[in-house]
Amino acid sequence: MKKLIIANWKCNPATLKEAQELFHLIKEDIKNKDVVICPPSIFLPFLICDDINFGAQNCFWEKSGAYTGEISPQMIKSIGCEYVIIGHSERRTIFNESNDEIRSKIKQAKRAGLVPIVCIGESKDQNTFEIIEEQIRGVEQDVILAYEPLWAIGTGENASFDKVREVREFLKDRKFLYGGSVNSQNAKDYLEITDGLLIGGASLNAIEFLKIIKTAY
Ligand code: PGA
Repeated sequence: MKKLIIANWKCNPATLKEAQELFHLIKEDIKNKDVVICPPSIFLPFLICDDINFGAQNCFWEKSGAYTGEISPQMIKSIGCEYVIIGHSERRTIFNESNDEIRSKIKQAKRAGLVPIVCIGESKDQNTFEIIEEQIRGVEQDVILAYEPLWAIGTGENASFDKVREVREFLKDRKFLYGGSVNSQNAKDYLEITDGLLIGGASLNAIEFLKIIKTAY
């Protein structure tokens, strides 16, 4: 099975010029590959081009209307994106997004024809399987799930391969990515037990990111 590599740039870099520079460094090597670049939404129209997949990092649950500051999945689709990350743990914790809101976002994203990449995972003091069960309740089989335990994000403390395998088995036949401190050293091992990777910090370093892409191809 082909592996999917998602780059989650989060709220980085700080300027369009830097975003264009970073994109320029990786562009040729990610063409026609199962790689998805998710920059800040405001940069998307400046980066989108043929033969490369793009996604947004979040979306709203309505198509349009009086919702100041929101961006709908239909808008994201209309500028040429195919994917959207939904329910990232930073959205859940910093912006208090609930499982219900996340389910509504997934529904609208699918209606718009986007592929949702739904982030799931527990914090240190929580039971992994109880939390995941709540997070995936009512979430259809055809979305991509990204297991990202909160304690592994941006910490260098990645989940053990056994743990990732256990979660994968729990989720049965769903398309399954791992995210959390993935780098060029550990990417190969995670790729063997998943359908792909969701990469934060390492996707902001062109050399490191391209090394990861090489391990997948
Ligand atoms: P990280 O982030 O690779 O920097 O740990 C992953 C993510 O939050 O998607």
